[in-house]
Amino acid sequence: MISDTMQAALNDQINAELYSSYLYLSMAAYYQDSDLPGFANWMRMQTLEEGVHATMFFDFLIERGGRVLLQPIAGPPTAWDSPLAPFEQAYEHETVVTRRINDLVTLALEERDHATVTFLDWFVREQVEEEASALAIVKQLRMIGDDRGGLFMLDRELAARVFTPPAANAAG
Ligand code: FEO
Repeated sequence: MISDTMQAALNDQINAELYSSYLYLSMAAYYQDSDLPGFANWMRMQTLEEGVHATMFFDFLIERGGRVLLQPIAGPPTAWDSPLAPFEQAYEHETVVTRRINDLVTLALEERDHATVTFLDWFVREQVEEEASALAIVKQLRMIGDDRGGLFMLDRELAARVFTPPAANAAG
């Protein structure tokens, strides 16, 4: 059985993951509107990933005898100044998510809740990848600058991203 404190923290994380999904969907809309369908595709795949993250927390809470209590999802930004800006924000956002996951691990350790610590391990590793993939694109966009040809090439590259659900037992 999970403690009330851990249950509340995991419910907050479901909300944070759903907000991430909403944020990336808003970025997808911005890129679509900016005639950059490859960038929009990358963000749509990210939206799906975040939905899976939320579902993983949802399933874990239920498995531990906890209650899922969904909360309102805040509205995301809807406009950015340049094709670089959403990726800069995505990278910043992922560093915030990493801090949230680290705080959850700290809480689970304090509570001697080793099942939750083990569950969170997948997210600790996932965040390394989440930060790295957003930062890699930020760096490419900074190099491209105002070069429309470079932007077009990167758009074609990002169009190739497909959604790969995590393995069924990824979270242990
Ligand atoms: Fe659910 Fe982007 O971390």
